[in-house]
Amino acid sequence: MIVNENNKRTGAMSYQAEYSKSIEAPEAFWAEKAEALAWFKKPETILSKDENDIYRWFADGELNTAYLALDYHVENGRADQTAIIYDSPVTDSKRKLTYLELRDEVAKFAGVLKAQGVEKGDRVVIYMPMIPEALVAMLAVARLGAVHSVVFGGFAPHELAVRIDDAEPKVVVTASCGIEVAKVIEYKPMLDEAIEKSAHKPEACIVLQRPQAEAPMTAGRDVDWVEAMATAEPADCVPVKGTDPLYILYTSGTTGKPKGVVRDNGGHAVALKYSMKAIYNMGPGDVFWAASDVGWVVGHSYICYGPLLAGCTTVVYEGKPVRTPDAGAFWRMCAEYECKALFAAPTAFRAIKKEDPEAAELAKYDLSKLETIFMAGERLDPPTYHWTVEKTGKPVVDHWWQTETGWAICGNLMGVEAKETKPGSSTVPVPGFNVCILDHEGNELPNGEQGNIAIKLPLPPSCLPTVWGDFERFRTGYLSEFPGYYSSGDGGYKDEDGYVFIMGRTDDVINVAGHRLSTGEMEEIVAGHEAVAECAVIGINDPLKGQEPVGLVLLKDGVEADEAEIQAQLVALVRKEIGAVACFKRAVVVQRLPKTRSGKILRKLLRQIADGQDYSIPSTIDDPASLPEIEEIMGRHGLVTS
Ligand code: COA
Ligand code: AMP
Repeated sequence: MIVNENNKRTGAMSYQAEYSKSIEAPEAFWAEKAEALAWFKKPETILSKDENDIYRWFADGELNTAYLALDYHVENGRADQTAIIYDSPVTDSKRKLTYLELRDEVAKFAGVLKAQGVEKGDRVVIYMPMIPEALVAMLAVARLGAVHSVVFGGFAPHELAVRIDDAEPKVVVTASCGIEVAKVIEYKPMLDEAIEKSAHKPEACIVLQRPQAEAPMTAGRDVDWVEAMATAEPADCVPVKGTDPLYILYTSGTTGKPKGVVRDNGGHAVALKYSMKAIYNMGPGDVFWAASDVGWVVGHSYICYGPLLAGCTTVVYEGKPVRTPDAGAFWRMCAEYECKALFAAPTAFRAIKKEDPEAAELAKYDLSKLETIFMAGERLDPPTYHWTVEKTGKPVVDHWWQTETGWAICGNLMGVEAKETKPGSSTVPVPGFNVCILDHEGNELPNGEQGNIAIKLPLPPSCLPTVWGDFERFRTGYLSEFPGYYSSGDGGYKDEDGYVFIMGRTDDVINVAGHRLSTGEMEEIVAGHEAVAECAVIGINDPLKGQEPVGLVLLKDGVEADEAEIQAQLVALVRKEIGAVACFKRAVVVQRLPKTRSGKILRKLLRQIADGQDYSIPSTIDDPASLPEIEEIMGRHGLVTS
């Protein structure tokens, strides 16, 4: 057990008292936390049920999230404080916006959207790189009481089209390009292709032209960001109900169709405001840097909304942990902007460690203002934890997250009571989350035993109340497996001290370089190739990215083509359909796949073989001889790791 020096920093409040109150008296607990916000109308109903019989928070409260994030601070003495620091090594530019400047930009852009007909409840898709305008667009949508859906820039046109069809946006906001290290990625042609593919056609596309690539414009549909802003009338904040949606964020599930996680306004604002102090120990004026992307939930919560709701300065970084220009990038940023907290995925630190194992770059910078390093998005492996602690001398907090919750489910609450750290554990449940370990029948397991991680209802504020346009998918995907609980899809255990250890997904979701991806979706694409009879895509361990997808492919009888050629085609196909971010680089041809007698591929078994785990042969297996054969093939191709 490692004693966390941060223990000495706080300690006034006890974690146990805070946590117990949140579980035993959730309404009183969250009513008190809601007091921290300037509601237009304070909620009187704290917890209630909606038409789907789902618990909802603050149903009769009225607020505007963009008001709380911007106007409130402008009106309360923070107008001249920096709201956003933009640092872009890939374009060699830096910029700062004060709260007043950001508020004015957002109000004007809200005016641009309004002029395009965007009203309360309408959807706006945002497909942008890591530039301040991405946040301006998000906040402007929130200002109008409309609903944004940000699509990660690394996704290909097909993925964008699927999201456009599901969210049915009135308007899409994009930029002409993003920059990946030295590569210019043209976004606009991808948007054009997506709109061509989608059945739903947005009425307008607002395009920010960047100097690195001039986007061709479609007359009558495309609007130039700068021109529109020049004549825009600022728009006011539109009050919304606590339960009105703020955004939809699509995330990978077990099938090809991504799930539109819905986030409401009231619960989200209350939970994030609370988390900024309780989890991150951040106060107004502090600099908080989440080195993620606005396309992911961490970017939504802790690049955009959380820090701004708390009156902090947030950092928008258009670069990578390495290669922009070197492995000192994170340290340079923390020193230059006096960041008090850094939040990134473990894979980013593994990338830094690989290039600069002795952390020679770190010695060049003054990190005295940096208090804590937070990690999430995938399992924080103990070697990466130890390396980061040893080299930086800072407390490192692993916290467990999901897009569905919008904030950490387990963590070490640095602003409540910093607990001792156990490498490999994301510490303890965050107040509001009644985390239980269940067996397959739904019985609670004793400490030390591994099972399904579930959260007893009600979920705390900010967690999803539904899947956009598909409540049934929410019910069957999350609530049916264990009645009375939310099923997280992760497996793990609690130890004798109540520390939670997340051991990985129990379904077909994988995590590649901190990016959540669906192997089921990749299988659908691979199976679509004319030469492929059947396939299984599994995640195998990767020292840098955590996991990497690999396809095990059975070809149709009589296929004459060269195996290497088919493999290259499959790799290209997944890249084209999902995007480079899928990192699907390997497909191995096999003669048969292990299946049950009813024809289901035994994917769990394949994962166990890949992880070098012992496995028992299921009684339902159709052809036991397929196992040693697949094991041999996987071993020969280096797909078995431990
Ligand atoms: N737009 C377009 N393409 C993108 C992209 C984006 N926003 N993000 C990634 N890609 C592309 C990359 O350029 C790369 O393309 P390539 O195959 O042509 O080289 C591909 O997708 C894979 O990217 P990635 O997996 O990120 O690998 P990388 O080698 O470029 O970088 C890391 C490796 C570890 C440095 C990087 O993945 C990283 O910083 N990860 C952290 C992710 C994160 O913050 N997640 C949020 C959770 S908190
Ligand atoms: P996302 O929805 O993209 O945030 O991904 C959520 C998934 O990432 C979780 O269900 C976990 O499988 C994994 N994950 C996130 N944070 C952690 C963590 N700290 N430890 C282990 N796994 C994590």
